[in-house]
Amino acid sequence: MLVLGIETSCDETAAAVLRDGRLIPASNVVASQADLHSEYGGVVPEIASRKHMETIIPVICRALRGAGVSLRDIEGIAVTRGPGLVGSLLVGLSVAKAIAFALDIPFVGVNHLEGHVASVFLGDSSPDFPFVALVVSGGHTNIYLANGFQDFRVLGQTKDDAAGEAFDKAAKLLNIGYPGGVVIDRLARGGKKDWIQFPRAMKESMDFSFSGLKTSLLKCIKKRGYPFHERDLPDVAASYQEAIVDVLVEKTLRAAQMFSIKKVVVCGGVAANGRLRERFREEADSRGIDVYIPPALFCTDNAAMVAVVGEDILKRGFRDTFDINAVSRWPLDTLRGYS
Ligand code: KG4
Ligand code: ZN
Repeated sequence: MLVLGIETSCDETAAAVLRDGRLIPASNVVASQADLHSEYGGVVPEIASRKHMETIIPVICRALRGAGVSLRDIEGIAVTRGPGLVGSLLVGLSVAKAIAFALDIPFVGVNHLEGHVASVFLGDSSPDFPFVALVVSGGHTNIYLANGFQDFRVLGQTKDDAAGEAFDKAAKLLNIGYPGGVVIDRLARGGKKDWIQFPRAMKESMDFSFSGLKTSLLKCIKKRGYPFHERDLPDVAASYQEAIVDVLVEKTLRAAQMFSIKKVVVCGGVAANGRLRERFREEADSRGIDVYIPPALFCTDNAAMVAVVGEDILKRGFRDTFDINAVSRWPLDTLRGYS
């Protein structure tokens, strides 16, 4: 089956083509809007949806060319329906409906978080269900027990900011660019991880809290009365990053141990972080747990991960109807299996 995936939930316009469950690598197209939003230090929803409007058709055309197929060859469409920015989601969803209607082929609206979990199936090695999954992105920091597609149980979640948001807000405070995670990841290489002792919140729980971390950084800046000197930034970045990485690794592995699960999947934009990947590998190994982290290009938003979920649903004969709408909130543990 040839499936076209479409993703427009935030600030990446993406399309990809899957043939019988395998991504056609040259078809994986992601047009990032990061440059447009960088001067604001975060995504501006109105700008994002307007840019998706301009970019979506050229991106789909590039994906089809990369796959060496024409639109008429496509047999099904998988599109992100939520959670995300509604104005942005509507662009992808409307295009998906239009193509499905014109070609008289089925389409399904996919949960973006389930897409992130499914990105593990795009890598070279992937686990069978059940496994524990950490979804860590700009909008979410959740630990799930994943029993199968559409079968997730929440084990822990953030009570305030997401980990990616904590990276982005810190970068804004330090005035070092956007997306914050990418900049801090780069800056932190070679920095001293214990230069500042940032707080590790809610140590005993499987839930997360990152808002105190950002406040603690703000207090450091205020106490000094002037911004950090450029030569100190690697140490600040490394200390801040370590505080985030510490809690993500510890709580996820503890959750796996509590449920006697030996497989852990780490996914979402923050899973592209070099130090997080390194620490997960070290710590999981020493506890006898297998950790699966997709290649970085599949961690950040992309349409291949959406197509993986969509293909699974379509293969079971399910299709959505044209009256489905975009949804800003769509918890992963509310999905029901399709039959
Ligand atoms: O999954 P994603 O692309 O979009 C959402 O669904 O939110 O994640 C975006 C988030 C941003 O907060 C960004 O700062 C973070 O992922 N991110 C990173 C890295 N690359 C992206 N965080 C830490 N290290 C990275 N290398
Ligand atoms: Zn995402």
